[in-house]
Amino acid sequence: MLLKNLRPAADYDRFAALALEPWDALFISRIRQLARDMTPGVLVDIGTATAVVPARLASDPLFAHWRFMGVDLDESMLDGGRPRIEALGLSSVIELKVGDAQALPFADNSYAMVVGRATLHHLPDKVKSLSEMYRVLQPGGVALVHDMRRDVSPELLDSFTKMRASVGYPPTHVEEKVTLHEARELVIEAGLAQCAVVTSPASGLGALGFEILIKKPLLA
Ligand SMILES: C[S@@+](CC[C@H](N)C(=O)[O-])C[C@H]1O[C@@H](n2cnc3c(N)ncnc32)[C@H](O)[C@@H]1O
Repeated sequence: MLLKNLRPAADYDRFAALALEPWDALFISRIRQLARDMTPGVLVDIGTATAVVPARLASDPLFAHWRFMGVDLDESMLDGGRPRIEALGLSSVIELKVGDAQALPFADNSYAMVVGRATLHHLPDKVKSLSEMYRVLQPGGVALVHDMRRDVSPELLDSFTKMRASVGYPPTHVEEKVTLHEARELVIEAGLAQCAVVTSPASGLGALGFEILIKKPLLA
């Protein structure tokens, strides 16, 4: 199955390997910061594609006692990631599962951390996906969403487009993304305003996108 505006798994994986390092560093450093204060548990990556993010985290000594679950609606993406997981000897630590971000195949209050990068903009029901992340979080758990802003500056968008072109990847579909204001509205609509913050750096690569950080209270 090829979802709207998505490249086949092998193309995506090549792009992720060649070009996503700066965004991996940004996303992973945020996850590391959050994990430092937490008891190890299971981290779920929503829209994991070829499992680039879980593979990086599972290879990191900070996550030695964590387990990982990658979820994607497109089974061919997961299949594209399996050889990497096997080659890294991480098959016992990373599980991959077909599932919809808008109806996660998990029980309530199950996971320590739920993350998703560049997935939100693919989802018709973004509010439901945020509620679902919250639902499956354990009390005291943390969810982290990074995605690109539609209201990105033309200069930054141009450099992103050039970077993609340099590795043979087409321009992003910026029109399908949400603005920073819309991201804040989604959080309010999901009923998460009291436990979530939405931010975007003023400069640097991170300014291409926004972050939604959700903390589920211990007494939820
Ligand atoms: C742009 S890729 C991002 C991949 C990965 N998170 C990363 O940062 O490298 C978006 C992924 O979301 C997946 N996706 C799209 N709709 C989905 C849904 N409803 N539920 C779960 N995954 C979905 C796509 O199949 C694709 O693998």
